[in-house]
Amino acid sequence: MLDRLQQQPDDPIIELLMKAKADTSPNVVDLSAGVFKDEEGNTPILDAVREAEPRRLQSENTRTYQGIIGDARYNELITKLILGEDCAAVTEGRVSTLHTVAGSAAVLLAGQLIRRASNEAVVWAGRPTWANHFPLLKTAGIDVLEFPYYDHSTNSLMFDEMMDALGRLPKDSVVLLHGCCHNPSGADLSRDQWDELAELIVNRGLVPFVDAAYQGLGNGLEEDAYGWRLLAEKVPEMLITYSCSKNFSLYRDRIGALIAISRDKASAAHTRSNMMSCSRATYSMPAAHGAFLVAEILSDKQLRQSWEAELTTMRNRVNGMRSGFARAMAERGFGDRFGFVADQFGMFSFLGITAEQVIQLREKYSVYMLESSRISIAGLTSGNLDYVADSLVSVIGDGA
Ligand code: LMR
Repeated sequence: MLDRLQQQPDDPIIELLMKAKADTSPNVVDLSAGVFKDEEGNTPILDAVREAEPRRLQSENTRTYQGIIGDARYNELITKLILGEDCAAVTEGRVSTLHTVAGSAAVLLAGQLIRRASNEAVVWAGRPTWANHFPLLKTAGIDVLEFPYYDHSTNSLMFDEMMDALGRLPKDSVVLLHGCCHNPSGADLSRDQWDELAELIVNRGLVPFVDAAYQGLGNGLEEDAYGWRLLAEKVPEMLITYSCSKNFSLYRDRIGALIAISRDKASAAHTRSNMMSCSRATYSMPAAHGAFLVAEILSDKQLRQSWEAELTTMRNRVNGMRSGFARAMAERGFGDRFGFVADQFGMFSFLGITAEQVIQLREKYSVYMLESSRISIAGLTSGNLDYVADSLVSVIGDGA
């Protein structure tokens, strides 16, 4: 039976991360996966996490099942972090939160939920979107169709084209949006654009599905939540998938959440029961550890302050590298060609170079990025910035 299986292609992001890790060159620069690195190139364990870590052993006296919904304390706290302290939908009992195995499982379960609600449903995502949205939603039986989002020729948003495409979708269409720090382009909607988009979503009766994996890494915890909180205020139904991998630096702990906002309390109860049965039929229930850490950090004043300060440091470093990179390329004769990198947000930007040039950078210089030319800005440091800029110049020619 198993001999009928076909070889599957490597995952473009995780495989590249592994290749960079295995590269023994002293000059390796890993700009592949969206993983934060500090100035020394390390992905730190946050101080708040280190402090929270032993508390689980001290405070727990059992490791029996937690239940399908996961860690209830985490669910309550993460809902507040995501939706704010006074979200009307929460007060109205319309919000259901499920602790999930990171953002990926949240996307998978969201897909399953959509599929259960409608046999015909598809998900509309901006082109380009995170590569893993496609297989995750396909596994849930959902096709992903695309609307225009980012223009590679101008390195900017295609807002008008996007609004036009969304304005033509039928009622109840599910629209997948990136909450902040758009992956893969780094091109986020402005507040005014979120306002316009929210109005269109309400008028057309579309269902927003917001994937938020980078809260706090763009402009700030509150600032980055602007778009999805606005939608949560205005729409009757909405899905949010959330990851704590990046903002708590808990990648391997696999901690995330799925939030559903339903039309009313009765519908929320049904939604919740379906979220739980999707989880039960997929991996039964999530692991406890990451949720304990996040809940401990969010509920303890001192740990929370320490986490927020570290998150600010991470954000400032990424933003600093953005302007540093744009400056380094300007100094090498490229004028403002790479200026857009400084204006975008979060971990990612497309350099706008060809796949052949990307391969040359990898093979000749051990500089790793996705073939689409997406770089993870967090892999840049003041120690490797000039090396990356010089390597880039050598494969694309000088800017003169
Ligand atoms: C990325 O896009 O690089 C990250 O979200 C890592 C992943 O799982 O793809």
